[in-house]
Amino acid sequence: MVHDFRSDTVTRPSPAMRRAMAEAVVDDDVLGHDPTTLELEREGAALLGKESALFMPSGVMCNLVAICTHTRPGDEVITEEWAHTSRFETGGAGAVAHVLLRTLRSKRGLMDADEIGRWISGGNEHTPKTALVCVEQTHNFHGGALLPIDGLRAIADVARSRGVAVHMDGARIWNAVAASGVDAKEHTAHADTVSFCLSKGLGAPVGSLLCGPAEFLERARFWRKRLGGGMRQSGILAAAGLIALREGRHRLADDHRLAKRFATSLADIGPYVVDPDVVDTNIVFFDTGTIEAARIVEAAQARNVLLYAVGPRRMRIVTHHDVGDESVDVLLELLTALAR
Ligand SMILES: Cc1ncc(COP(=O)(O)O)c(C=O)c1O
Repeated sequence: MVHDFRSDTVTRPSPAMRRAMAEAVVDDDVLGHDPTTLELEREGAALLGKESALFMPSGVMCNLVAICTHTRPGDEVITEEWAHTSRFETGGAGAVAHVLLRTLRSKRGLMDADEIGRWISGGNEHTPKTALVCVEQTHNFHGGALLPIDGLRAIADVARSRGVAVHMDGARIWNAVAASGVDAKEHTAHADTVSFCLSKGLGAPVGSLLCGPAEFLERARFWRKRLGGGMRQSGILAAAGLIALREGRHRLADDHRLAKRFATSLADIGPYVVDPDVVDTNIVFFDTGTIEAARIVEAAQARNVLLYAVGPRRMRIVTHHDVGDESVDVLLELLTALAR
């Protein structure tokens, strides 16, 4: 058995998903007629309290299409310094949307609304026009941090009062819902558009949705097509996405419990350094102290444990539906043995 903690993107589609994919009713989604894709888009949009949604192959594409649609070349986008949109999307915002990214520091992923306000510019002879603020809920590289709703509201209030749109990279919005116990709509009310992934904790093999106003998504279709994201019989993928959306979100609390259990146990094992109190959801970052992270990855692989080093002495583990208590036991035993 393989114990795979590299990411929540590694989950395999369930037998029910594979059956649904085989039986999916399909048509051509570029023409707007694939019934299963349309069903998924309707359900996803409704759950987030948005008018409409657009199915795409990936979270990166949803974010890029959102940025392209919200902005014009030369505009500025305010985002967090470790946000997926600024650090981990190959510079697409610059290369494709031709926008400048103004990256701000944050407290565990939450940027300061007043600081955002100080940077926003209507554009003039000297400064670029600020067109968009991007927030990330939950925040991956701040350890799956849950951003407080008040903080999201403060950012949206500042942005909207200055005519600037807000996009939420909600790749793991359902983890935020599970961790906060607060309905998705209360998180997403503070963003004009929201992207979320079906292929992370929810367990689908492929796919993400960009949700927002119908008029915005009509324009976003242009960018999806331009980027090559128009899919034909996408109902095959949407069928798995529907199961992920209907069922996958209800089991995320298990992943959070497991991540917390791992961090709490690891805190007692030297030389590792971890703070279990900041584990809000399914992601744990920890320092490996005197042990090189690459050595841990190598030793783990020999025991069928797959891990991800994010720095020379820093690692990230992610829990999901294909790892359970037994996998965490194996991982803790391994880390204990390496520490000796
Ligand atoms: C916060 C966040 N946004 C967006 C993405 C992009 O998702 P994908 O890899 O499906 O394009 C990821 C992927 O890990 C992510 O963690």
